Amino acid sequence: MTITAANRPFRPYGAGHEIFSDRSKELILVGPAGTGKSRAILEKCHAIAEKYPRSRGLFLRQTRHSLTESALVTFEEKVVPEGHAILQGAARLNRHSYVYPNGSEIILGGMDKPTKVMSTEYDWAYIQEAIELSEDAWEAVTSRLRNGVMPYQQLIADTNPDKPTHWLKARIDAGRTKALQSFHRDNPVFWDQERNDWTDRGREYVLGTLANLTGPRRGRLYLGQWTGAEGTVYEDSWDARKNILPRFEIPREWPRYWIVDFGFTNPFVWQAWAEDPDGRLYRYREIYKTKTLTEDHALRILQLTKNEPRPVKIICDHDAEDRATFEKKTGLKTVAAKKTVSDGIQAVAARLREAGDGRPRMFFLEGSLDERDQELAAAHKPTCTEQEFDGYVWDQRSGQKKGDQPMKEDDHGMDTTRYMAAEKDLQPKRVRPVGTDYAI
Ligand SMILES: Nc1ncnc2c1ncn2[C@@H]1O[C@H](COP(=O)(O)OP(=O)(O)O)[C@@H](O)[C@H]1O
Ligand SMILES: [Mg+2]
Repeated sequence: MTITAANRPFRPYGAGHEIFSDRSKELILVGPAGTGKSRAILEKCHAIAEKYPRSRGLFLRQTRHSLTESALVTFEEKVVPEGHAILQGAARLNRHSYVYPNGSEIILGGMDKPTKVMSTEYDWAYIQEAIELSEDAWEAVTSRLRNGVMPYQQLIADTNPDKPTHWLKARIDAGRTKALQSFHRDNPVFWDQERNDWTDRGREYVLGTLANLTGPRRGRLYLGQWTGAEGTVYEDSWDARKNILPRFEIPREWPRYWIVDFGFTNPFVWQAWAEDPDGRLYRYREIYKTKTLTEDHALRILQLTKNEPRPVKIICDHDAEDRATFEKKTGLKTVAAKKTVSDGIQAVAARLREAGDGRPRMFFLEGSLDERDQELAAAHKPTCTEQEFDGYVWDQRSGQKKGDQPMKEDDHGMDTTRYMAAEKDLQPKRVRPVGTDYAI
């Protein structure tokens, strides 16, 4: 078998070039999406493994699943020469590590199963998309870097920027982690160095997809700025650290609610919620997907929930045809959502905030998503409800003020979440009209 990387040459520029000679203990490449951060680091990792026999490295991301879908794809399809010995054995998803003929090894892991990766020692670690991790996790990794086979030990990471108050930004500003900036012009796939101009793909992706993003996502992924979510609808209430919870087994007796927002070009969103005895709500399953028929979603939902109690209520967006299809396929009755916006938003905000007992009353369980929509992911759109909060902003165009109306963009999970809160908290008081006879 021929070993060749000729069909996918790596041409390093800028920070992607600098990292090869940089031996800082903590080094991070920061930049917008698609500048070549991950590719450059993966190239360095592979080179290190080949250069230092019996060295041990770690590829780490917040979840093992996201590592498999991103870094490992680039690594196997672009970085490692075709036919290389390390590609033999388990398929990407089930693989524990890459074992090199020279005795080097690269272990693969996610912080969703930390004990697996934290129980051993490494010469180097690559943390992909570092903003997703906690600082505790980052520091735990640094404490594992003492294998001593290489002349230096290194934590190397990449990330898109996040909000200005992120711990990682503070760590960089304090000089504890060395940051190198990465730009779209460093990536030869998007920028032609000779012509000093965008390539066709660069024009499409950077000037098309990224430049057209909105809110903080645009600042972070197109411009590469640590930028906050200013003017977001839930800025005083949503806190991912408090409103997102690790998964747990939901007791059977907790009532369930399904909320549906129909869509085809826009994502179809289905959320399954459970209510604890204190009235707190937990979104524990979700479909967030484009280009799938309502009837197929309905069948998938039945499959996903076949061992669960039936919902006490199914609350739907108003589309009559979709509702009829959904009812027919599931054999379950639906009700129309209460769609008023302002009071619905206030109901959600009130639940997201900590109540008197110090806990919010609305939670999103990790790992709820059925299947990540790859098209949405490629377009850097939200791929689940949690990801909408940061970009859900007030419409402040043409004289409108904060608090008037939210922008109707990437708001499908926001709508379903609002229908859930409205169902619980905005029930109209049922006043019996005088003189009506209710006997039937
Ligand atoms: N220096 C380079 N030479 C060749 N291809 C590159 C280079 N940098 C990036 N690429 C390609 O561009 C695409 C995006 O790069 P990636 O590393 O995923 O970007 P980022 O991690 O910054 O979002 C990948 O397909 C990658 O293989
Ligand atoms: Mg990357």
